[in-house]
This record gives sequence, structure tokens and C-alpha cells, in this order.
Amino acid sequence: MIKTYPYLLDTLPYAYDALEPVMDKETVMIHHDKHHQTYVDNLNKALAENEQLQVKTLEELLSSELPAVKNNAGGVWNHDFYWEEMTTPGEGHIGESLMRELEKSFESVEEFMKIFEATALGRFGSGWGWLVQNKEGGLEVLSTANQDNPLVDGFKPLLAIDVWEHAYYLKYKNKRADYVKAFWEIVNWDKVEERLK
Ligand SMILES: [Fe+2]
Repeated sequence: MIKTYPYLLDTLPYAYDALEPVMDKETVMIHHDKHHQTYVDNLNKALAENEQLQVKTLEELLSSELPAVKNNAGGVWNHDFYWEEMTTPGEGHIGESLMRELEKSFESVEEFMKIFEATALGRFGSGWGWLVQNKEGGLEVLSTANQDNPLVDGFKPLLAIDVWEHAYYLKYKNKRADYVKAFWEIVNWDKVEERLK
């Protein structure tokens, strides 16, 4: 869906406690209602007096030269994407065509998961881990700092993990590795496959 100014916070596609016990209700509430909402509010604020930017799409704003626009547009886009790709623990299964693509690019699903986990863990400070499709159609894993988005570099995002501490600290404390490992249980693989098509 193409979003433009003024931006609104989407409601979650599930209940706050739907991702329990992998992601606790309080984390989801604070993350969505406070952090995500703040990106929406700050983006609207940054655009309020800039009519030229108000007509741009959210995607176009991701590469803005104005840090307040770029960072908050990224915050809105990335979190929309993240909420959309999760589901109740145990509900998600990797379908055949996605499995084939993962095997083509990483040799096996296990190898892909290992690389994704290492990349998410290796992101120093705040940022995101991503599974993306490159221009040649192959799949790659990469990470971005802060609220940066791989679309800007010509990649098509397929799956994102938020590794800002606000995404996991209440439940996992400083153990980012435990959060990253548990994340697999709540990935909605149908959504990932849909993004690939
Ligand atoms: Fe976040």
C-alpha cells in the first residue's frame, strides 16, 4: 500500500499478546504504541512545513537528505514491515518455492539462518538484520544501522529483524542472541514468500 503524508500508525494485524511467549505483550505494546508511533509523529512533524516532501511516498522519503525525514521515514517503513511479517508461534512454515530460493542462494535453510543470526548479532549498536533479494534475483543477508533501509541501495527487503534494544530488552535483557534465535518461531513465512513474488 502506498503511504503518503500525513502518516498514520497502522493497527497491528494481531492482538498484543499474539506473539507470546516469544515476544511478550508489554514489549509489543511499547514498541508499537510508543516507539513506532513516535516515528510516525516525528515524520509528520518533519514534513509539516515542507510541502515538496509531503507529496512524496514513504519509500521516496527513505533516501531523503534531511536526517529527520530519512530516519523517521525509515522508522515508519521498517516497523510496518516487521509487524506484518510475524505470527503466532508455530504458525509459520517455509513453503516450497521460498525454500528453493533459500537453498539456491545459501545452500540450505540452516545455513541461511546461521548467516542471518550472525549478521543480526554483528550489527553494532542499533539497527536491523535483513533478508533481501538483489537485482540479479539472488537472496542475500545484510544489516543496516539505525533506521536505514536496503531499498535505498536497490535491494528488495523480504524479512527484517529489529535489533534495537527496545525490540527485546524487557524479555531478553542484554541477550540479543536469544531473541534472534527465538524470532524464527514467529516468522510468518507466507508473508516472506509473498514479498518475494
Ligand atoms: Fe523498533
